Amino acid sequence: MKALVLLGPPGSGKGTAAKKLSGRVGFRHVSTGDLFREALSDDSKAGKAIRPYMNKGLLVPDDLVLDVIRDLVAKLPNTARILMDGFPRTLAQARDFEKVLAGEGSAVSHVFLLDVEPDVLERRLVGRLVCSSCGEIFHRESKPPAVEGQCDECGSAVEQRSDDNLETIRKRQRIYEELTLPVIAFYEEKGIMHRVNGDRPQDEVLNSLLELLSDGNGSHM
Ligand code: AP5
Repeated sequence: MKALVLLGPPGSGKGTAAKKLSGRVGFRHVSTGDLFREALSDDSKAGKAIRPYMNKGLLVPDDLVLDVIRDLVAKLPNTARILMDGFPRTLAQARDFEKVLAGEGSAVSHVFLLDVEPDVLERRLVGRLVCSSCGEIFHRESKPPAVEGQCDECGSAVEQRSDDNLETIRKRQRIYEELTLPVIAFYEEKGIMHRVNGDRPQDEVLNSLLELLSDGNGSHM
């Protein structure tokens, strides 16, 4: 199994970059945020347990997150290649993920941190629109859908995420600083952390990620 991790504050462009990068390098995009939003949309036990945290912009408790990750990894073949988006977000998650991967004879090879200034993050999140069906990501000003309210990819309705209001955005940013910055230090100590300037056009961000994964002979990993 091969594993990459994409980290960054809310709105830094993890989802946008992960969709593009996973397609280019043949890694499966695993977004814990998307997995949890899917669980919310049905009336399952997991959805009910997660709802109070996500609606308030709080992190889902580690034990629930780790159950989802262990279950996912157990179902993947040993040859799987995964790109984690928004996981791990706490030191406990990072340490547990390390053990889960070690059980598969593997380890995270690269961690990418998308660096973006806080005022830019806020503007991105208040203007974000997401397709209710395929998850394609838009922005009211910088990347509006060609037809207002309609996804360019699948034609379904685009909508604002319920946690993209200023109060919740600021809470998510505070939680990131408190609980996720230590994860960055954890991976820095391992020498696998790469900082990427996320405040550039999306294709430039993608090219930087591809370069970091390149073996110098035109192939990636
Ligand atoms: P999650 O869905 O992971 O949200 P997040 O980390 O807050 O990140 P976002 O999805 O808000 O932003 P992003 O970095 O993906 O940016 P995007 O590409 O969309 O998590 C949501 C919730 O789930 C959490 O609050 C928590 O409750 C729970 N959760 C998830 N994982 C968890 C975990 N591991 N543990 C515990 N709880 C967990 O881009 C944003 C906007 O910017 C878009 O409009 C886009 O078009 C635009 N944009 C992107 N890139 C660029 C660029 N280069 N230039 C200009 N605009 C850009």
